Amino acid sequence: MRREILKLFAEHNTVLSPGAWEYLSQCEDPRNMAEEMICSCDKLPFPISVEWLESFNVVKETKPVTNNSNPSEFSSDELITVLHDITGNSTCTGELNDFVTYFTDRFRRLKTILSKRREASGCMDIVRVKRRAGKAKVIALIGDITEIRGGYKILTLEDESGKIKGFINPDSLAYTKDIIEDEVLIAIGEIGRKKSGYEATFFIDDIVRPSVPKMRNNRIKKGFQGKIAFTGDIHVGSTSFMKDSWDRFNTWINSDDKMAREIKYLVIPGDLIDGIGIYPNQRDDLEIHDIYEQYREVARILKQIPNRITIICIPGNHDMVRNPEPQPSLPEEITSLFPPNVKFYGNPSFLNLCDLKLLMYHGSSITDLSDILPNVTPDSPISAMSEMLERRHLVPVYGKNTPIAPEKEDHLVINEIPDIFVTGHIHRTQVDEYHGVMLINSSTWQEQTDYQKMRDIKPDPAKVVILDSYSRKVSIKSFV
Ligand SMILES: [Fe+2]
Repeated sequence: MRREILKLFAEHNTVLSPGAWEYLSQCEDPRNMAEEMICSCDKLPFPISVEWLESFNVVKETKPVTNNSNPSEFSSDELITVLHDITGNSTCTGELNDFVTYFTDRFRRLKTILSKRREASGCMDIVRVKRRAGKAKVIALIGDITEIRGGYKILTLEDESGKIKGFINPDSLAYTKDIIEDEVLIAIGEIGRKKSGYEATFFIDDIVRPSVPKMRNNRIKKGFQGKIAFTGDIHVGSTSFMKDSWDRFNTWINSDDKMAREIKYLVIPGDLIDGIGIYPNQRDDLEIHDIYEQYREVARILKQIPNRITIICIPGNHDMVRNPEPQPSLPEEITSLFPPNVKFYGNPSFLNLCDLKLLMYHGSSITDLSDILPNVTPDSPISAMSEMLERRHLVPVYGKNTPIAPEKEDHLVINEIPDIFVTGHIHRTQVDEYHGVMLINSSTWQEQTDYQKMRDIKPDPAKVVILDSYSRKVSIKSFV
């Protein structure tokens, strides 16, 4: 890795000073940090010193001590590290004031990410910007957006110092960028000359989102060289659960097939069961009416998966946890029904899986994004996931169909860039990459229900996405 990073800096006309490599190598993901520096700075210093790294907020990590350097000698569940999970860390008391704290934290986290972008140079607080005329840049949370005659948009921009009215012309670049309420971005434009008795107006020409650096492609990870399988939305308990297809999958994964034998992890991003009372008249669609019986049945079928495979589960909106996100892991009374190779985390969860950073999110906000963004359709979860990465937030807009629990810390901000980002919820099977991040939406084992017909959701069921963690090659196996 050292050689790779030094080459990267050399390509950008700089080197690391003595001591800087030792410092950088102790942060959690040196390669990721190097890429962030290159993308964020117009000109890197020559050489890069330890002091400069400190000023860039490179934080050294205390790594767990291990005497075993050969990853193959670990069992797969020992190689999972939880980087972020709400489970056991909820601070939400349900007070109205909690939302003020929540949105302040959202703003601060996204401001920190945006501040590292080269476009952030020259950004000022809104209170200062309002006192002057001419070119201006602010990092702001977007409040109300209204469209007026002629297609002009008026919006409120807010930071911790104050608010300002923004004005977007339909001919501007900013107009084409589908700004939504509650996102945090850099707004670039001009403050109009202030007339006495009127508030200053910010004419916005362009905006910049936190996004992810474009150069993160083709990252080959070393250490773990097995396969990771992704599937989800099993919906046991529904009359539409595809039992025969699941049996075919079960037979295959227990077979001597080379690919099946190489699978070390099975990742399931939510909706293990169909649940009860999730949508109107769901009773009519249920084969198992008792929620505990539904979990006993899914535990039974997961017990048939070979126990050399670690199964990683988070809850979805059909599971037995609180509805607002982030959702904690399923309770112990449920998890105790499952064999020890099934591991449970919250929704969302950010895990380190054998040196691969995996972001798991069930995906409820995908439908919200498809309602408000023209380029996102309900059958294209990948486009919604790209929009989440652009905005570095899993639920960028508040107040639609995805409820948010006002935690003191916004657990839905994508603080760190994952290698793999997996969602479910939409019951499609899609794989793509966005700026080098592998995006997976992971199928279902439920046929189309009447409710889905009503919402125009067309499932792509009974499929398993299999990723070779080393070569990044993806295969999709169908068990329809
Ligand atoms: Fe589902």
